[in-house]
Amino acid sequence: MEQYIMKGGNPLVGDVAIGGAKNAALGILAASLMTDEDVLIENLPDVNDINVMLEAIQAIGASVKRVDRHTVKINAEGISDVSIEDEYMRRIRASYYFIGALLGKYKSARVPLPGGCNIGSRPIDLHLKGFRALGAKVEIERGAVSAHAIDLVGSHIYLDKVSVGATINIMMAAALAEGQTIIENVAKEPHVVDVANFLNSMGASIRGAGTDVIRIRGVRRLHGTEYAVIPDQIEAGTFMCAAAVTRGDVTLRNVIPKHLESISAKLREIGCEVSEFDDAVRVVGRAHQTRTNVNTQVYPGFPTDLQPQITVTLALAEGTSIVTESIFENRFKYVDELSRMGGAVKVVEGNVAIVTGVEKLTGAQVSAPDLRAGAALVIAGLAAEGYTVVDDIEYIQRGYENFEKKLASLGAMIEKVDSEKAARKFQLKAG
Ligand code: UD1
Repeated sequence: MEQYIMKGGNPLVGDVAIGGAKNAALGILAASLMTDEDVLIENLPDVNDINVMLEAIQAIGASVKRVDRHTVKINAEGISDVSIEDEYMRRIRASYYFIGALLGKYKSARVPLPGGCNIGSRPIDLHLKGFRALGAKVEIERGAVSAHAIDLVGSHIYLDKVSVGATINIMMAAALAEGQTIIENVAKEPHVVDVANFLNSMGASIRGAGTDVIRIRGVRRLHGTEYAVIPDQIEAGTFMCAAAVTRGDVTLRNVIPKHLESISAKLREIGCEVSEFDDAVRVVGRAHQTRTNVNTQVYPGFPTDLQPQITVTLALAEGTSIVTESIFENRFKYVDELSRMGGAVKVVEGNVAIVTGVEKLTGAQVSAPDLRAGAALVIAGLAAEGYTVVDDIEYIQRGYENFEKKLASLGAMIEKVDSEKAARKFQLKAG
């Protein structure tokens, strides 16, 4: 079983290149099935979630050619099956994007319902409401969503809650519906805009992505394209927190500074220096960092996917900070693990954490409860005194490419190990 082992205390210093956005790429990969022509996708992150999505695409009969580590060519002409196997849905929740993509192209899809997830209940009622509004007959039978239509017809859809997944999924189906679709109260996240831009590059007519209302004029067919995925806002934000909490000096390359504004603002509030360049951001941590409050919100608010990382940063800032999780109800499960390292974080009312800054954290053996919280525990370990071992790192590998290697290139003492012996060897080396 693989683990990360690290010896904390080194400030992270240097340059790091940020990869393509996982959550944009998941939508784009599904959307690439909506044409029979070749689609070339560049800047794909080489992470487990993406690789599972590619396996699922192959399993239904599309061809996937890895041009290089970050580039794939997909051709969906050979799709023989619009039914996704349960296995893929269990391994990766975003396979719900196959419903919108296959329904749009083939007017038929059968996709297992996403299983329980460990950050709270994650219903897909809004996705289904959108498909029904476009004229599809949608049924839940034997644990799967079946969606079928003779023709999809444009419609006016209001989303009761702002949802990234529902926005992207409905947008995909509507791109090949007849006539105009208007979706109100949509998500404005950078990856929503990226999937819209990708579909437009295939000949779709989608306007307004990045605002509250998206207007789609359905087209009859989509064509092939070549497209590069945007940089990952969450990977970037994770490294920004890592720089801050270790009192380091890190320049992130290949980023869009505008997408990072909420995290830049919070790091400045606690005393870090954040400088923005055309496609880079530099974060300089300060010995004396102070408290602030954080409330997760939909974009351009502070992302829920950076909540654990900023909480860890605040755990080592002077004063008492309040972190409110407004998107998912169960996203503080890592707090118990952080307590084992000396963190003083108390969860009240389920979605509010009171973070009392401490002078230091101390290394411990902890487990990653989910992807982002796992990354947060790693950066806590890099700031802690002594050795930290993080278990269950397969969660982290779902969304971070070469996480330990990128951190090590910034001076962190961290390694991925798969045995007691390897862990002891690391300890001997680290001293
Ligand atoms: C996406 C991201 C995830 C991120 C989240 C919020 C992907 C693959 N995942 O997840 O990393 O944490 O956005 O930025 O991009 N909701 C409903 N009904 C629905 C859909 C959602 O009630 O049909 C609720 C959810 O329970 C949640 C909120 O809406 O409280 C936001 O969820 P949503 O934006 O849909 O998250 P995901 O797309 O699942």
